[in-house]
Amino acid sequence: MDKFVIKGGKPLKGEIYAGGSKNSALGILTASLMTKGVCVFRNVPDIEDVQLLLNIFESIGVKYVREGSSVALDTRNIDKTYIDTEDAVKMRASYYLLGAFLGRFGEVSIPFPGGCAIGSRPIDQHIKGFQALGASITEQDKCRITAKADSLQGREIFFDCVSVGATINVMLASVFANGTTQLVNAAKEPHIVDAANFLNFMGARIKGAGTDVIRIEGVKSLKHKAEYSIIPDQIEVGTYMVAAAATGGDVTIKNVIPKHMETLSAKLVDMGVSVSSSDDSINVKSTSRLKPADVKTAVYPGFPTDLQQPFSVLACIADGESTVTETIYENRFRHLDELKKMGADITVKGNKAVFNGVDHLDGAQVYATDLRAGASLVVAGLAANGTTEVCNIEHIDRGYEAIENKFMQLGADIERVSE
Ligand code: UD1
Repeated sequence: MDKFVIKGGKPLKGEIYAGGSKNSALGILTASLMTKGVCVFRNVPDIEDVQLLLNIFESIGVKYVREGSSVALDTRNIDKTYIDTEDAVKMRASYYLLGAFLGRFGEVSIPFPGGCAIGSRPIDQHIKGFQALGASITEQDKCRITAKADSLQGREIFFDCVSVGATINVMLASVFANGTTQLVNAAKEPHIVDAANFLNFMGARIKGAGTDVIRIEGVKSLKHKAEYSIIPDQIEVGTYMVAAAATGGDVTIKNVIPKHMETLSAKLVDMGVSVSSSDDSINVKSTSRLKPADVKTAVYPGFPTDLQQPFSVLACIADGESTVTETIYENRFRHLDELKKMGADITVKGNKAVFNGVDHLDGAQVYATDLRAGASLVVAGLAANGTTEVCNIEHIDRGYEAIENKFMQLGADIERVSE
C-alpha cells in the first residue's frame, strides 16, 4: 500500500487546474447507458471511483476508450442487467444503475452499494421513488437489490429528506416514464443540474434542476450520440482553496465555476483570507493568522459536508475557538483523532466539534479512514511543521487525480511511497 510523505510548513504558491467533478461524472456516465449509442465525455477525472464504474460497465458489455480526460462509451451492446462484479460493492454511485436500467430495460439487479464509511447511508428514498413510479423492488439480506417494472408511470414524489443520490437516480428512472414526474424536496447540488443538462441535451425533458422541485416529462427515446463536458469538481477546488489558506499561500485554481464555491469563499473571507475570482478561476491568498469560524454542513447551497473535513484543518490552527457541526452524516469526524496526533486541540460533543486553535500542527504518522478524511490529512501535513506520513491513501485516490502532482506544482514537498 502507498503512503504520502509530506515535509510541511511551506506556503503553497502558483497555479493549478482542477479536474472534472467526480460526482457529476459518476451520474452522467451512468446516465449515458440509457441510450444505445456512443457518447464522448470531456473533463472526466482519472480517479479510482470512475475506473471502478468503467470496470462495472465493461462487465455488462459496454466498451470504453479513455484518452487523457476524455472517455468514449459505446453502449450499443449491453448484454446484462444483472451486475455481479465485486467493483460494484466498492463504490456508492453504482446505485445509479438502478435508475438508468429501470428506465432503459425495466429490470436491474445490483449488489448493495458501498462507499465511504461515514454513516449508515440508507437508500430508502431511491427505493421509495422507484416504487412510486411502479417498480417492484426486492432486497436480499441487504446484499443485493433487484428492481423490475413492466412500465413506469410518472407521479408526484415527495422525498422525506434531501438526497443527492435519490434525486439523480429517480430523475434517471423518470426520463422514459409515461406522463409527468414531479420530484419535490429535490437536492440542488451542481451535479444534479449537470446531470439534467446532459439528459436534456440527449432529448430528455427535465425542468427545474437546481431548485427543490424537478419536473420530468417522459420521452420515448434519447439521441444515440453526444459529446458532453463534465463540470469542474467543486470539492477538489475547495480542497486546494483550503490548502492555500492553511499554508499561508497564494494559489490560483483554474477550470473552476466560482459560483459553486461561494459558501466556502465567504467563510474563508470571514477568516481573513483574500479570495478573488474571474470567469473560470479563483485565487486564494493568506498572509496572516486565520481568524476562528463556525461552520455547519448543509445541503447545497449550504456548506458541503464533503468539505467539512478539509476545512477542519483551518479550525485547528485559527486564532481562537472555532466549531464545525456535521448535520448530514453521523460518522464524519474520524479524521479528528488523526489531527489530534498532530497537536490539534479538539473536543467532540455529539455532531459538533469544538476547536481550540493551536499555533501550529506538528508532523505525525496518520491514517486516512475515508476519502475526504484523507484529503484533510494531506492538507494538515502540508501546513504542519516537520514530516507527516499519511497512510491508507487508496481512499484519497478514489476521488482525487494524482493529488500529489498538483500539490508539487504548487511547491509542496510531497512524495508517494510504496510500502
Ligand atoms: C452524495 C455524494 C457524496 C456527498 C453527499 C452529500 C455522490 C456519488 N456522492 O452522496 O459525495 O457526501 O451526496 O452531499 O454524489 N439519505 C437517506 N435515505 C436515502 C438517501 C440518503 O436517509 O435514501 C440520507 C443519508 O444517510 C445522508 C443524507 O440523506 O444522511 C444525504 O445523503 P445523499 O445526499 O443521498 O448522499 P449520497 O447521494 O450518498
